[in-house]
Amino acid sequence: MKALVLSGGRGTRLRPITHTSAKQLVPVANKPILFYALEGIVAAGVTDIGMIVGDTEDEIRAAVQDGSRWGAHVTYIRQSAPLGLAHAVKEAEPFLKDEPFVMYLGDNVVPDGITGFVTRFNESRPDALILLSRVPSPERFGVAELRDGQVIRLQEKPANPTSDLALVGVYLFTPRIFEAVRGIKPSARNELEITDAIQWLVDHGSRVEPHIIQGWWKDTGRLEDMLDANRLLLDNLSPSCAGTVNEGSRIIGKVVIEAGAEIVDSTVRGPAIIGERSRILNSYVGPFTSIHHGVEIRNSELEHSIVLENSKILDVSVRIEDSLIGKDVVVRRTTRMPKALRFMLGDHSEVELAT
Ligand code: DAU
Repeated sequence: MKALVLSGGRGTRLRPITHTSAKQLVPVANKPILFYALEGIVAAGVTDIGMIVGDTEDEIRAAVQDGSRWGAHVTYIRQSAPLGLAHAVKEAEPFLKDEPFVMYLGDNVVPDGITGFVTRFNESRPDALILLSRVPSPERFGVAELRDGQVIRLQEKPANPTSDLALVGVYLFTPRIFEAVRGIKPSARNELEITDAIQWLVDHGSRVEPHIIQGWWKDTGRLEDMLDANRLLLDNLSPSCAGTVNEGSRIIGKVVIEAGAEIVDSTVRGPAIIGERSRILNSYVGPFTSIHHGVEIRNSELEHSIVLENSKILDVSVRIEDSLIGKDVVVRRTTRMPKALRFMLGDHSEVELAT
């Protein structure tokens, strides 16, 4: 069995972060989302991995390299344009050839892994196995309708969903899927939808088996989902301290302090992670916060947030929460006159002011 990981696409819902970075590389609990997918694939015993890439190819290559860090071998497949998940499958056919494969969307997190799912596929050998999860807002996903445990209809982001079963971004396919992707037409958003390709299989008498997962799963395409994934993954960490904490500081609950990090006269209430060489000075870092490498937080309060590398939060008198702060960002209070708010924000930034 091979794997196909999709790390192309545009990431418009996470702008401005994705103006400069691939959405699959945004760290959650200080690890790029994409790495969780690679770990899950390798844990299921699959090591021959095709990686679909687009405009952010260089960045994905620099992070993943040849995959040997996970004991895998990664082949990069440049998608000619981000024309849909089924289009990516079509372009990967020369790599996948006649083997069954697991397709994993690089912005999805399935922390319980995919091993059980792969085992089930190998045992029952359907033409496709799809993973489903009950969600409160199915209109944001591909939706499956089942009757007597059989898949009867699939729709991509329907305005009026007829079921609450969303398609999770992990699929198992046999080479029959190549016929399906050749048989479908682009959707209203001008993409070749994998959902339509699976419907094609159903319509042409192929066996498509559903598997409903009970554990949590996240598509991290939006800020809220990214923060949710961060919260859930931080909860799985075991506390550790490879940095320094002075006497005037309090560390409460599950907190990971990475090498070279310094906590001075501050309170850190977990679950939280403080990245390498970051400095927390006279501040409060509250639950569900991931601070990446080289960050400085001084005289400020922050919780339920993600701060990326080398950013600074200085002397901010109002607590920051529910935020994703990019790399090399500076947020600071100033006494400079006239008393005013001054911004330099990238395109598509969002600022919410409490006063
Ligand atoms: O997350 C699950 C959902 O993923 C499913 O419920 C939907 O049925 C499925 O269509 C997909 O929906 P999204 O709209 O969230 O897909 P997105 O455009 O975010 O792309 C998913 C991943 O695939 C992402 O890592 C980018 C990558 N991608 C996307 C496209 C359109 C590619 O590599 N190439 C592409 O052409």
